[in-house]
Amino acid sequence: MSLSDVFPEIVRPDEPLAPHTWLKVGGPAQYFVEPTSEAQLAAVLRHCRDEDIPVRVLGGGSNVLVRDEGVGGAVIHLVGEAFQSIRIEQNRVVAGAGALLSHVISETVRAGLAGLETLVGIPGTVGGAVKGNAGGRAGEIGQFVRRVVVLDRGGERFVREGDELTFGYRTSSIAEPVILEVELELQPGDPDQITQRMRKLWIQKRATQPLAHQSAGCIFKNPRGMSAGDLIERAGLKGTRIGKAEISDRHANFIVTEPGATSADVLRLIELARSTVAEQFGVELELEIQIW
Ligand code: EPU
Repeated sequence: MSLSDVFPEIVRPDEPLAPHTWLKVGGPAQYFVEPTSEAQLAAVLRHCRDEDIPVRVLGGGSNVLVRDEGVGGAVIHLVGEAFQSIRIEQNRVVAGAGALLSHVISETVRAGLAGLETLVGIPGTVGGAVKGNAGGRAGEIGQFVRRVVVLDRGGERFVREGDELTFGYRTSSIAEPVILEVELELQPGDPDQITQRMRKLWIQKRATQPLAHQSAGCIFKNPRGMSAGDLIERAGLKGTRIGKAEISDRHANFIVTEPGATSADVLRLIELARSTVAEQFGVELELEIQIW
């Protein structure tokens, strides 16, 4: 029996993934799963483990490139009340992994809690942000994380805290397939001052990044002590187009797409940037985005 026969109310077979991602390209998921409770999610995970069905979690779709042929197995999407709640408890915020990071930021700033305003402009869900330690020059989300609730491959629930949580540049030690909930510790402050700081950072970011376009944020990690955007620009690739995809002429570490673009267009630009930078500067660029 297929996953959609076992869980018909929450599994859609062959769901196109492009509309669920910021790049808006790529093929379908064999099974697209939108559970409505933790128990249902755990049951899906157990079934997938028993039947050897690969499982992926789609957050906000802002850091992923789906190949044109799509993905086999289950793609889990944590939307709905059970996975998107945001609760402030003194100087902590407890958020469902599916909550948008932008919502968590605005709720905490409004409550006079400082820290997350440095992450303004970062798209995606808070679960995705924690898994990949999203951040930028002003800070990273990992520095605020005190506790995460995860489900393992068999749907069993664990709490990870303290030493069990370590964060590096766009990485975390969280190995379980599903993050359910995160708890972040922030600093009490004056809401007006925090808002001011957030506005300033937003203006800086908007001036240097193509935030209004279909993109997946930075494509490559910055090599130690260097900027991938600077290297790609110096390789003369800013504005290069393949099909309906383009290396952004605003920031060379972004690829932007137009309607009609394919995943193959984006992959060819990635390859071009990687090979040209390697040839000209002897630097191997490493991907920041996930390719599915
Ligand atoms: N630069 C260029 N040409 C470009 C882009 C950048 O010369 O096309 C130069 C800039 O002039 C600047 C330097 O490179 O001197 C750094 O640029 P920027 O301040 O834009 O930062 P970045 O290193 O390119 C990082 C993060 C961003 C984050 C910003 C701001 C990575 C890969 N990127 O970008 O994160 O928003 O700092 O905090 O770490 C992301 O991870 O998806 C992302 C967008």
